[in-house]
Amino acid sequence: MKITVVGTGYVGLACTAFVRKGHEIVCVDIDANKIAMLERGEIPILEPGLSDLIADGRSSGLLSFTTNLAEALKGADVCFICVGTPPLPDGSADLRFVETAMGSVKALKESTTIVVIKSTVPVGTCARLGAVSNPEFLREGRAIEDFLHPDRIVIGTDDESAKKKLLELYASFDCPKLVMSPASSELTKYAANGFLATKISFINEIANLCDCVGANVLDVAQAIGLDSRIGPHFLHAGLGYGGSCFPKDTVALHQIAGSHDHDFRLLEAVISANKQQRARFVQKVFKRTSPGDVLAVWGLAFKAGTDDVRESAAIEIVHRLMQSGYKVRVFDPMAMEGAKKIVHDRDVFVSSALMAVNGVDALLVLTEWPEFRDVDFDEVRRSMKQPRIFDGRNLLADLALEKRGFEYVGVGLGQRV
Ligand code: UDX
Repeated sequence: MKITVVGTGYVGLACTAFVRKGHEIVCVDIDANKIAMLERGEIPILEPGLSDLIADGRSSGLLSFTTNLAEALKGADVCFICVGTPPLPDGSADLRFVETAMGSVKALKESTTIVVIKSTVPVGTCARLGAVSNPEFLREGRAIEDFLHPDRIVIGTDDESAKKKLLELYASFDCPKLVMSPASSELTKYAANGFLATKISFINEIANLCDCVGANVLDVAQAIGLDSRIGPHFLHAGLGYGGSCFPKDTVALHQIAGSHDHDFRLLEAVISANKQQRARFVQKVFKRTSPGDVLAVWGLAFKAGTDDVRESAAIEIVHRLMQSGYKVRVFDPMAMEGAKKIVHDRDVFVSSALMAVNGVDALLVLTEWPEFRDVDFDEVRRSMKQPRIFDGRNLLADLALEKRGFEYVGVGLGQRV
């Protein structure tokens, strides 16, 4: 099939994986610089497998990039709208880009082209704009893998010919394909993210309780996760969720509910617990250190495996510490460039985990990069002024750091802190 993809952000670029299924893809963006970059083979985001995919797609002739929408739509079977839906001040999704893209596509497309919205949009948008809903559930750092091997594919349409074409497009994907109304499909995306966020806030609250009662959240999470009705995923207590999706989508879902006079109190609590989790961690640090102290920070990305710092707990915590009079020295294996755009004091950035700890009063672990576990902790202890670690991700919890001379504080490890 011939597929047009409008928008070359995260979701749009992940759609290039259709070339692996033998489809022809034309990606369109209004940003000429971005298209020029992609044509030169430069990839604006860091995503495993994406650069090979784009190189292969271009050399096989199946993938091309353009700013010319009319050209891109010629002979297209399906057109995916993958433009951004950033939050407005009230938390609702800003649909300006989706509406503009839909308007242009409708004016230029051929009558047989099916228009599909992949962007996360409020319930009712697809029906109103006359598009099929087909949400994505891609994780950053695993987007291509998730795209090619999804747990399920959700298609929201009441139109028989659109249903037929999309089922044909996804025929070679080995997973359940669920066809439902556009409203159900749109809500599915929010419900999935809302539920996962709920799981995270729940385990974080259990962790906080563990700290009060002297229980260990790692044991509790493992034990409840073995219940097949609960499952082991998304039970890592820590600093709460960040990134470009969960914070935005939970607030948008709450706003959607409110706009229909539905008071979604559970979700409100999930959102507020997530905010509290960061503040709680900072309080732990404040209790044991003093303004003027020098703190090392390992990790700035919102999670491991990405250079993305959007809504990152680490960035918020670094800002709070700096505002409270602490000196910080930060290191992240991938997210330094992105962080430099938000944390303007260049002096805080150092080029290795070991450099960060030299002479500091405490070390804070804020992103769960596995390589932080491989650092020589005897050397870390010798370098630090005070051998004290606050681990916001419980990344080092099993390394017996207390036995190696550290004061070690995790999240919910029953240390009554
Ligand atoms: C998420 C969804 O997983 C994906 O389906 C959706 O399409 C987009 O949003 P992503 O933002 O890439 O993907 O991150 P994810 O891996 O889901 O993690 C989200 C946040 O939750 C991260 O900040 C992570 O550190 C945190 N998290 C995750 C926890 O704190 N505990 C957990 O157990 C799991």
